[in-house]
Amino acid sequence: MCGIVGCVLKDDDAAPVLLDSISKLEYRGYDSIGIATATGNTINLKKGAGKIAEVDAELDLADLPGNCGIAHVRWATHGDPSEINSHPHLDENNAIAVVHNGIIENYLAIKEELEKEGHEFKSDTDTEVIPHLLEKFVDEGCDLELALRKTIDIIHGAYAIAAISIKEPNKVVATRKDSPLIVGVGEKEYFVASDFPAILKYTNNIIYLEEGEIVTLTGDGITIKDSEDNILDKEVDVIDWSPEMAQKEGYDHFMIKEIHEQDIAIKNTLAEREIVKKIVDEIKDDINRVAFVACGTSYHASLTGKYLIETLAGIPTEVLLASEFKYSQKSLNDKTLVIFITQSGETADTLKALDVANETSKTLAIVNVAGSSATRKAQYVIQTQAGPEIGVAATKTYVSQLASIYLFAALLADNKELLEKLDKVPDYINEVLENEDKIKDISRKYRFARDFFYIGRGYSYPIALEGALKLKEITYIHGEGYAAGELKHGPIALIDDGIPVVAILPPGDDHKKTMSNLEEVQARGADVLGIGSYGDEDLITKAQDTFLINSEVDDIIAPLVYIVPLQILSYYVAVARDLDPDKPKNLAKCVTVE
Ligand code: G6P
Repeated sequence: MCGIVGCVLKDDDAAPVLLDSISKLEYRGYDSIGIATATGNTINLKKGAGKIAEVDAELDLADLPGNCGIAHVRWATHGDPSEINSHPHLDENNAIAVVHNGIIENYLAIKEELEKEGHEFKSDTDTEVIPHLLEKFVDEGCDLELALRKTIDIIHGAYAIAAISIKEPNKVVATRKDSPLIVGVGEKEYFVASDFPAILKYTNNIIYLEEGEIVTLTGDGITIKDSEDNILDKEVDVIDWSPEMAQKEGYDHFMIKEIHEQDIAIKNTLAEREIVKKIVDEIKDDINRVAFVACGTSYHASLTGKYLIETLAGIPTEVLLASEFKYSQKSLNDKTLVIFITQSGETADTLKALDVANETSKTLAIVNVAGSSATRKAQYVIQTQAGPEIGVAATKTYVSQLASIYLFAALLADNKELLEKLDKVPDYINEVLENEDKIKDISRKYRFARDFFYIGRGYSYPIALEGALKLKEITYIHGEGYAAGELKHGPIALIDDGIPVVAILPPGDDHKKTMSNLEEVQARGADVLGIGSYGDEDLITKAQDTFLINSEVDDIIAPLVYIVPLQILSYYVAVARDLDPDKPKNLAKCVTVE
């Protein structure tokens, strides 16, 4: 949901570094791109609608003078994706440039006020009020930093903002509230950025900016001040992600690279067992109810958590969509553990719910991005070890979330058998990946399908939901996941000749029942792709196509393994339809607005 970068370099031009850094954030928004630098008497600005490569081919974005600047990739909220609405936005005199991620809720009232004072606006964005406010305060005699402080006293909403001015040409000032912004401290370069991948190539030294703090980057270094204008001496964290982790390394897309990293992601996440055990020991005697809260793919991981915790630990568990949380929060109390699942740790809906739950209950966040807002708000934190995920559709972060949830549930229930099974999951995933070509072949058959159905029971139901979501997200084909038993209560009316139905059939007590549902859809013309286990002769004989998995993977651990062929299927269908699976239309990896 928009990415921003700002930098000051001691010796070199900023624009090539800004272009390189902002390209690493394209997963956050890709409907427009812009870069501005400040020199002497000019703001040098290039921006346009489209993906970075397209706009760069036309404008040569790196060709701007000056060693300080700001850059932005946009996921439109106010105003369509056009050159005029793309960032950076300027003040009236073209002397100040601003990039912004988030939403200014009271921008209309501010705009009206400024218009009365004679300001003229060019774009439809909420952001444009910021350079105009900065201009107003600079005209009143403030320096850029003080002007920013006065501006954030006026604006309401969520924001990460970076600004430059021709009056102070070697400086970037930035601040944040409810939107992420980190500070990078290199040897000869200083950064602000929405996320780590932007700056990993230049530095691993990070400072986390708290709400209301203002950072000023100059050629001499970094100053951070709190809201009372006191200079802060903040801790520098060293993050252990490498620049290679945020590169394609020979794969065609990040998505398929990240699908291939899932064995390692799970192994590394399971290695956090001691940390998880400590949390479990601290809370287990003090909770009688669990509630998961999440959005999107993380919501599907949460559904698996409900089955696990209720079945293994016998603790009543519910799963709430973060955006719906406030409508059903009333029954939480101090015996409730509310678990927030979020790979980014910055999803606005999830963070809002976390603030509310903190008032009454114990809160635990399962998060992939270290230092993200959820890690700082929750009372307990489990960090998944997927490494940076650049593909917009979650894959390795999803299985890592599952790994953490399984670990948590197994330790809560003291279930040694499950802990042993989990250790074998990376090998099972590898076996699936070795057969990737089989799914690739099957995907060709389905690339022109209009609708897809996914069915599964029990632990396989969330797999069906997540399989369908992956398909929708990156292929734009309509896909629905259903509980296999529910299909006959309505949706079966939609089954027709040749409609693909993906049936998820790991070995387990309910296998027979799902086989009956498979036959019901076949009888109405469906073309069934069965995801089952080696030796499942019933499935092999009946389904039109099958993809087979190690028969040791039972229904309980199936969510960790059976999702992999479904991710691969969506990936290859997207590729066959000539779509970019890394940057699906209308989506953003991290949604920082409600
Ligand atoms: C966005 C993404 C989804 C993701 C959801 C939750 O909608 O497009 O892929 O599952 O946010 O993100 P989170 O970072 O909270 O897991």
